[in-house]
Formats: sequence, structure tokens, C-alpha cells
Amino acid sequence: MTLSSTSFPPAAGARILSLGGYQPGNVVTNDDISARVDTSDEWIRSRVGIVSRRFAGPEESVTDMAAVAGGKALAASGLSPGDIDLVIVATCSAEASIPNASAVVAHRLGITAPGAYDLNAACAGFCYALATASDAVRAGTARYVLVIGAEKMTAWVDQTDRNTSIIFADGAGAAIVGPVAEGKPSGIGPVVWGSAGDMAEKITIADRDSFLQQEGQAVFRWATTSMHPVAAQACERAGVAVSDLAAFVPHQANLRIIESIARKLGVPRERLADDIVTAGNTSSASVPLALARMVERGALKPGSLALLLGFGAGMCYAAQVITVP
Ligand code: UT7
Repeated sequence: MTLSSTSFPPAAGARILSLGGYQPGNVVTNDDISARVDTSDEWIRSRVGIVSRRFAGPEESVTDMAAVAGGKALAASGLSPGDIDLVIVATCSAEASIPNASAVVAHRLGITAPGAYDLNAACAGFCYALATASDAVRAGTARYVLVIGAEKMTAWVDQTDRNTSIIFADGAGAAIVGPVAEGKPSGIGPVVWGSAGDMAEKITIADRDSFLQQEGQAVFRWATTSMHPVAAQACERAGVAVSDLAAFVPHQANLRIIESIARKLGVPRERLADDIVTAGNTSSASVPLALARMVERGALKPGSLALLLGFGAGMCYAAQVITVP
């Protein structure tokens, strides 16, 4: 007897069909932060690049934000909830480890009985989830996948610690991934991913009662010296030149970090996503949120190429080139 190995016909390639983003309503300025820790608007703007960020309200959860972003992506795709076979939520800040956020989000969006799992690769989470969604579609394990990056980082940050409270913020971004039409090229390039567990202690949340701790300078050095080759390799594997990219959308860690990576890659400043200025560092939400906001304001044309790069705790990283929906 021969076992069938696929649930759906395998696809020649996968693509992003649509995007959705969500930011909480509460705008927090650098002056608001300076009122409680020893810092200043000038220091934060010049050293991190953030002017304002959004904090979720006390009753607003990772699941709430994920559902709003996911609902927007679903509506924009033109698909119905019943078309979605798999929901992946990338998060490192979910308030509960059980139930998983993805199953709850799926239920809220009326997606009945999909495969559902949460994925934690910290700030690289969305790029990891996008890669696994693309593989599922290509392998015929799923036909349409809802991929979400959602974080309530403020729940894990000591608001009196000036190393972390100036950086981290809340939000969610989402994408629907599906197969490319017959004969069309893939819209999600090969992922380049990895980790550096030997440096894992550089960013930690030790337990449920602890806040996030990071060795800022060590992370800064690692990101500005190790991430541009990863991004360059993602372009190489996708068969595109850096000059073909309409946008470079890295994890919005620190404006100085991402400007340095862009410079080393040879990406012109105007093609660098700098959503951090008004969104802060939203960990796994930052890449899809930045991408969704660029598309929303018409800064990126459908069919153009964007390079995504996630990096952070673990120290996990992942990069891929995508076609903008
Ligand atoms: O997304 C997850 C991955 N995380 C990251 O990517 C974070 C990476 N790291 C960073 O973004 C930066 O290292 C920080 C923003 C955390 C810190 O910036 P920095 O440029 O590395 O500052 P530093 O730690 O080298 O400190 C420089 C100076 C020090 O003063 P002295 O010794 O030169 O007098 C600090 O005490 O700035 C002082 N300082 C501050 N001053 C005002 C440190 N933090 C602050 C602050 N406000 N918030």
C-alpha cells in the first residue's frame, strides 16, 4: 500500500496575498518615558531613532492585537475564513502559554479547525513563520496560511529600566500566504536562517516573574557585524541583486543598527523601512507591521521586491526576499 504524502496539490511556489497591521491607540512619546526614567527625547532620538511608540492598554492582549491584524489581512485577501488551513502566531510575549494564541485567534476570526501553532524565535519570529508557511504551501500540507507576528513587549519590560523601556513597544502585523498561480514564479524566496545559542544570555526573560534583560552593546555589535551577510545571502539565494530591491524591511531594533546594515548591504537610505520612528521595537511584529504600513501608504508597489530580515534573542535570525502583494 502506498501512502499519499500531501493533503493538497503541492505548489510550485508560495506568495504573500495580503497584509494587515495593528497598533494600539496609546501613543507614548519620549517625554512620557523621560518623566519616569533618567533619559531624554534628544538621547532616544539620536541613539535609537524612536520619536514615539504605542503601548497596549491593560486589558489588551497579544491575542487581541493578533486577531485585529489577522482579520485585516484576511479581509484584504478576498478569501473567506473557511479557506484558511493553518494559523501561525509568532510571539515571545504571549500572556499565557496555554492556550496557544493561534487557536484562539483562529476561533475569533471564524476560521474553523485549522492547524494552529505559536512559534517563538523572538524578533526573528515573523520571518521564521513566513518560511514555514511557504514550505507548508509548497509541500501541500496547507493551501492558505495566516501568519501573524504579535507582541505585548511592555508586559515584560520594567518601565523604570532605561536600557529597555525606551525601546520596546506593542503591536501586530499579519500576512496571508498561498500558492502562486500555475506557471508563475515564487513570491517568497528561500529563507536564510540560523541562531547563535552561545550568545543566548545576551537577551533573556529568566522566568514568569522576571523582566526582559539585555546587554545592549553586545547585541548592537552582533547585529551590525553579523546580519548584513545573512541579508546578502538571502538575495543571492533568491537570485536577485540588492539594486533590484524596492525596499529593505529589517526588524526595527534600533535605527542606528538598521541604517548600518543597510549601508553595508548597499541599500539606499530611502529604501530602508524606518517604521521604528513611530512604532518602536515591537519584536516579531515589527517586520510585518513595517511592511504593511509601507504598502498602505503607497510607498511600495505590488509586484516589487522587498528583503525581510528578522534578528534578536536566541540569537535567532532569518531573511528572505518577497514579492510585495
Ligand atoms: O530587538 C531585540 C534586540 N535588541 C536590540 O537590538 C538592542 C540593541 N542595542 C541597542 O539598541 C543599544 O545598545 C541601546 C539603545 C540599548 C543603548 O544604546 P548605546 O548607544 O549602546 O548606549 P550605551 O549603552 O553604550 O551607553 C552610552 C551612554 C552611557 O553613558 P556614559 O557611560 O557614556 O556616560 C550610558 O550610561 O549613554 C548612557 N545611557 C543613556 N543615557 C540616557 C544608556 N542608556 C541611556 C538612556 N538615556 N536610555
